Amino acid sequence: MKNLLFFSNNKNKTIEIKKIFKKFNLEILSLSDLEISDEPEENGQTFEENAKIKSDYGFNKTGFPCFADDSGICIESLDWKPGVFSKIYLNNFKSNEACFESIIKSNKKNSKQDAYFKTSISLTVKNNQNVIFNGKINGKISDQAKGEFGFGYDPIFIPENYNKTLAELSTKEKNEISHRSIAVKKLINFLTN
Ligand code: IMP
Repeated sequence: MKNLLFFSNNKNKTIEIKKIFKKFNLEILSLSDLEISDEPEENGQTFEENAKIKSDYGFNKTGFPCFADDSGICIESLDWKPGVFSKIYLNNFKSNEACFESIIKSNKKNSKQDAYFKTSISLTVKNNQNVIFNGKINGKISDQAKGEFGFGYDPIFIPENYNKTLAELSTKEKNEISHRSIAVKKLINFLTN
């Protein structure tokens, strides 16, 4: 498929997605390639709904087939929140470190450590016609924030069967296991079959 647009203004995420596509010899357009910076209001209640809002918006604005993802972390000690509010939740603290400390404290208080990241990707190819692809990675919250790579909650998330946080893994290592790469691989499989 030519001129497939990825709708996100998150630079790190766009780099991750471009790298995954490159492995399959596929090029994608990003919003910065098209000098688009406006975004629709993400007022959905689920990852799927928010992803669809963005992919429909990108398709309607550019006419290019467009995909968008919506992701977040769900933490057991926070009753599986913040979910779709992951970005707002992090931004409400004075720093990422303050947010991480608060989550670690809540885990200790509730003796709960489980968490997962989920990504939903929506692909819009025609007006109001979209397909959804989901990816999930289970893990636990670390006792301490660690690592320099990645973004968002990566420093406090230890994937299942690992003893490092996502922020201690290189982008390549993260891309082999992440919620986003699982959903992207399903999308690529759909596009190439
Ligand atoms: P978005 O709506 O998909 O951009 O994701 C919402 C928020 O979830 C981001 O701002 C991050 O804080 C968090 N998030 C999503 N994916 C990841 C990830 O792969 N690592 C760490 N945090 C993430």
